Amino acid sequence: MDEPADVERVGVVGAGTMGHGIAQVAATAGYDVTMRDVEREYVDRGLEGIDSSLERLAAKGALDEEPATIRSRIAGTTDLADLADADLVVEAVIEDLAVKRDVFADLDGIVDGDAVLATNTSTLSITEIASATGRPERVVGLHFMNPVPVMDGVEVVVGERTDAAVVEFAHGFAEEVGKETWESDDKPGFVTNRILMPWINEGIRAYDEGVATREDVDRGMRLGTNVPMGPLELADHIGLDVVLDASETLHEELGDRYKPAYLLKRKVAAGDLGKKTGEGFHVYE
Ligand code: CAA
Repeated sequence: MDEPADVERVGVVGAGTMGHGIAQVAATAGYDVTMRDVEREYVDRGLEGIDSSLERLAAKGALDEEPATIRSRIAGTTDLADLADADLVVEAVIEDLAVKRDVFADLDGIVDGDAVLATNTSTLSITEIASATGRPERVVGLHFMNPVPVMDGVEVVVGERTDAAVVEFAHGFAEEVGKETWESDDKPGFVTNRILMPWINEGIRAYDEGVATREDVDRGMRLGTNVPMGPLELADHIGLDVVLDASETLHEELGDRYKPAYLLKRKVAAGDLGKKTGEGFHVYE
């Protein structure tokens, strides 16, 4: 099973922002999807997120089918065993290596030996995650971007033991769900976060050190370099806890030039995690 066209069922582990976005784009492309999270409440919140995103896309004529038809291809569950017949599983749980390794070890015992196991990790090592399974050659990074239904690209990350056919499969699957791809070796932060995280942390430091107001740090980068969001609003969009986790992994692996900004740590400690809590560097109504 190395052709995306042979895939019928896709499993997604984690119904959070990334997990439910991945489930949505897979179902939109015609795959049957089972999305699992640990609590029913999280599964339901993920399904609601899919409903509202599909409605937005339908309203501007961006879907070939009715939202209800796409939605009917997505089942929610709290039981990992319900992913047993998946041909591909994409994991999108929290950025914690021990948690991801546990998920992969469990999946390895549940899912058919031919199935591909992909991780949406943004900075952790694919090789370390893959080594929790007996099939490291069938483990690959499929790093979707947030918001998944809108962003055009997916980063394919190649672990130490990832089979070349599985790398091809990963590119092919991402293309099937309407994305363009690029490839990264399994090195800290891959291409995107290796470059994005220091950019965000420098934006936070510039604000904290009084170079400009938070509005002008964002405006400066938006208007000055034509990016859709400045570093502070992008941090709020991603989630400050996610930014801090990614920054700490990079700092640990790549040294002091990746040190997270002090104000980022203070905001996370205060529980101000960005848009999702209503306040980060900016306040959201
Ligand atoms: N589902 C469906 N449609 C959505 C959506 C969603 N979840 N989120 C936004 N949209 C649509 C809106 O409906 C809107 O459509 P129209 O233009 O047709 O009206 C369009 O996207 C733009 O949205 P908004 O008008 O609300 O706001 P915006 O113009 O500021 O765009 C954005 C929002 C798409 C998020 C844009 O600001 C952007 O591209 N920001 C940068 C995002 C980015 O860099 N993401 C990567 C983060 S890094 C990452 O994900 C990896 C990691 O490991 C941390």
